[in-house]
Amino acid sequence: MYIGLLHLHNVTRWLVLVAGVAAIAVAVAGLLRGSSWGRGARLTGLAFLVMMDVQVLLGLMLYVVSPLVRSALANAAAAMADHQLRFFLLEHLILMLGAAVLVHVGYALAKRARAPRVALARSLIFYALSFAVILVATPWWRPIFPGL
Ligand code: HEM
Repeated sequence: MYIGLLHLHNVTRWLVLVAGVAAIAVAVAGLLRGSSWGRGARLTGLAFLVMMDVQVLLGLMLYVVSPLVRSALANAAAAMADHQLRFFLLEHLILMLGAAVLVHVGYALAKRARAPRVALARSLIFYALSFAVILVATPWWRPIFPGL
């Protein structure tokens, strides 16, 4: 169960990143072309949002079953002095939750905007911020793909 979840969480990371790049690219292209927040922008934004939510859900499940998190919780004070334990106990959790909130806020604000350019600009700002947080909060020292 734990290993399966860990591998799934690893692979889904790439889907989140691809969806994030697509949502940002469509927003940038729309702004440059002066087009509106249309179907493409809505769908890529939605894909980013859904993939992020799936990844957060997998992450929360992993948090509950992870032996690494459990050992960190067993001695939280000592875990604070260990980079990897502190990262998964606090930093990864808090930053990724923040990144998910940013995607949701960006999508909701874009949907509510009256002017098309405002919708694209809002989505671009929030998606780019979320993407930057995801990059910072990803444990890049772990396998790039399961088993690699
Ligand atoms: C609230 C959200 C999240 C929680 C609670 C969470 C939790 C965790 C936990 C507990 C681990 C593994 C610890 C262990 O080795 O036992 C982990 C690993 C990892 N997480 Fe997350 N995660 C979250 C969101 C994300 C997101 C959004 C991404 C990327 C888009 C991500 C990418 C990764 C990667 C790449 C690993 C390493 C997987 C491996 O070693 O194969 N996580 N996460």
